Amino acid sequence: MKIAVSILGANFADLGTEVRQLDRAGADWVHVDVMDGHFVPNITFGPNMVHSLRPLTEKPLDVHLMISQPQAYIPQFIQAGADVVTFHLEAEGDPAQTIQQIHAAGAKAGISVKPGTPVTALRPYLSQVDMVLIMSVEPGFGGQKFNPAMLEKVRWLKKEAPQLPVEIDGGINPDTIHAAAEAGVEIFVAGSAIVGKADYKAAVTALHRASE
Ligand code: DX5
Ligand code: ZN
Repeated sequence: MKIAVSILGANFADLGTEVRQLDRAGADWVHVDVMDGHFVPNITFGPNMVHSLRPLTEKPLDVHLMISQPQAYIPQFIQAGADVVTFHLEAEGDPAQTIQQIHAAGAKAGISVKPGTPVTALRPYLSQVDMVLIMSVEPGFGGQKFNPAMLEKVRWLKKEAPQLPVEIDGGINPDTIHAAAEAGVEIFVAGSAIVGKADYKAAVTALHRASE
């Protein structure tokens, strides 16, 4: 299992310090939430932030694009150092083309669905992507409550494409992670369960333990 720590709730004025701390605390991936104020009602940052973070950690940068026009920005994010790029099925553009674009630029491709989108809509793309990201909250903000009904989507994916890694994002904490792990999730995004806590290492360890 992997913990992908979301820096959404970090102190953006001191993001370098935060990322170095998360690296030392045992984060497996650094999850970078990109929001455009259009696809979701919040704004974060763009490729330049990924470029600035890149030299601070050797951990994979897991870039989650919550933006309406992923194809217009994907090359810049990969150029900046993104290792995994996940876009939303609900965004503009042909998903098969978007996946090809990510691969052609040299990154791994993930596809994500919001809570209201049926997971079966992903069927045509399961043989093309490297990962599926299931949103267990409405995208846009950290600190929301985990929706356990989304685990049904994970179970469906694990039947449909057993080898394909599934990531879950939203409301993961020591109380919710076990059920997600049992459903078949391999990669757990965690924001508020780690960032903002006094001891990042203890928080990462608590998630690892609770997942077992
Ligand atoms: C929500 C983001 C998540 C969020 C997770 O739109 O995609 O990555 O930061 O935060 P928590 O773990 O607090 O739900
Ligand atoms: Zn995210």
